[in-house]
Amino acid sequence: MSEPALIPRPATVTLGAGSLPVRDSTAIAADSASGPAAALLATLLPPVGGAPRPVNQGAALPAAPPAADTITLAVDGARANLGSEGYDLVITPDHAVVTGSDPRGVLWGVQTLRQLLLLTPPSSQAPGTAGAALPAVTIRDHPLFAWRGLHLDVARHFFPVAFIERLLDLMALYKLNTFHWHLTDDQGWRLEIRSRPLLTEMGGRRAATPLPHDRNRSDGVPYRGHYTQDEVRQVVAYAAARGITVVPEIEMPGHALAALASYPELGCHGAGYEVAASWGIKNDVLCAGRESTFTFLEEVLGEVLDLFPGRFVHVGGDECPKERWRECPHCQERRAAEGLRDEDELQSWFIRRVGEWLAARGRRLVGWDEILEGGLAPGAAVMSWRGIDGGVAAAAAGHDVVMSPNTHCYFDYYQSPDTAAEPPAIGGCLPLEQVYAFDPIPAAIDRARAHHVLGVQGNVWTEYLATPEQVEYMTFPRALALAEVGWTQAPRRSASHFLNRLHAHRHLLNRLAVRYRPWPPG
Ligand code: ACM
Ligand code: ZN
Repeated sequence: MSEPALIPRPATVTLGAGSLPVRDSTAIAADSASGPAAALLATLLPPVGGAPRPVNQGAALPAAPPAADTITLAVDGARANLGSEGYDLVITPDHAVVTGSDPRGVLWGVQTLRQLLLLTPPSSQAPGTAGAALPAVTIRDHPLFAWRGLHLDVARHFFPVAFIERLLDLMALYKLNTFHWHLTDDQGWRLEIRSRPLLTEMGGRRAATPLPHDRNRSDGVPYRGHYTQDEVRQVVAYAAARGITVVPEIEMPGHALAALASYPELGCHGAGYEVAASWGIKNDVLCAGRESTFTFLEEVLGEVLDLFPGRFVHVGGDECPKERWRECPHCQERRAAEGLRDEDELQSWFIRRVGEWLAARGRRLVGWDEILEGGLAPGAAVMSWRGIDGGVAAAAAGHDVVMSPNTHCYFDYYQSPDTAAEPPAIGGCLPLEQVYAFDPIPAAIDRARAHHVLGVQGNVWTEYLATPEQVEYMTFPRALALAEVGWTQAPRRSASHFLNRLHAHRHLLNRLAVRYRPWPPG
């Protein structure tokens, strides 16, 4: 037998002999820290009599010797040498044991079991086994990076909760642990804010959408959608049950036209705004001068903090034109009062103020790399998207960085140079192999600063992606390449080895009905 075709490739894999049949009698046992992982595993194994199998919860584990015909899950803090999110997985013809260094590690071990089940073609060998079997193998595994992200823009097009959950489930299958939810932009505000109901009542709808094949023409059809806070809590819980942290993005000071259309006093002109019905950068942005802008942001972010328990809050910060600020008496008064040289420094002051507000509440600000221009508050993190230079500069200045350059991580770009054969996309060209070739710690980052690279992220902007099917087409299989970039140590990474394993995932993705872009046989 050869190494199972796991993606991302584990740190070490030792093959055993034979396999463990998953019978109706096969039990799940878990210690209390592994309860969520056991509950998840129960939904992933073949059901017994139409119901998920029961979990023997709270046993003192791991037992020695491990219980027969049982999949045992446990956290063992003494395995700290595995690092956070690490796990050991032992499968013999008699039993399976997942031992995580922490609860997330157990969850990733469960996802490895899930891949092994999905990769093993169902057979009708023994009665009462549901045809499922796990190959005997010993795996020791841990991630290279702590931030393995996927971003989805729900402002340009809105996607229902059921699809968000499907995406989270597929992320978890590939051990991606951070979902960056781009909730607000010029073309729509998608998050219910109870103290500011107009954000979704007015900001959640636009008059029309540009046509995919001709961005200068519009479909003339009103478009709307938003998530209620109850739905957001459901998504956050669904993600957490799979080891995924949700990072909300509230765009400021640019990309905020939907907010201005709802509350015009937030803009420098104070009137005349509409939710954008076209793509591209808009000149109207939040006024940096008036205090009411910050009252608004604190109200919005206050509700955001209640909904999203993760450490990071993304505040956008990209592509903010400064014309309005140059003409606005309030903005100019602020600039002078704060002793700021120019409008770039005013943006910096803006982001720093919000960052300090978040820090006082135990959270950390992350923003697109423009937030570096004009200086950045300590503790703030940078998402490098205009290539890697922003990431290099941020790390050199002692800031944490998530690498998400458009050269390697923009999943809204075409997947082939033969663009005529592809559905309309925003442009660019990012084939699968180029994603795989990404090195998140480029030579330009000093080794002593390498720890500032938190990880990698793929971005799915949706100007040209109106349906879940289109999002899946652009995301898969590129997300699998990114998952391996984020997880697997360099010596274990090889493009040809990956493409061989990817071949087996065609079958796996078909079983899950993922509408991926077909790739040539490897
Ligand atoms: C971006 O792509 N404007 C962050
Ligand atoms: Zn202003």
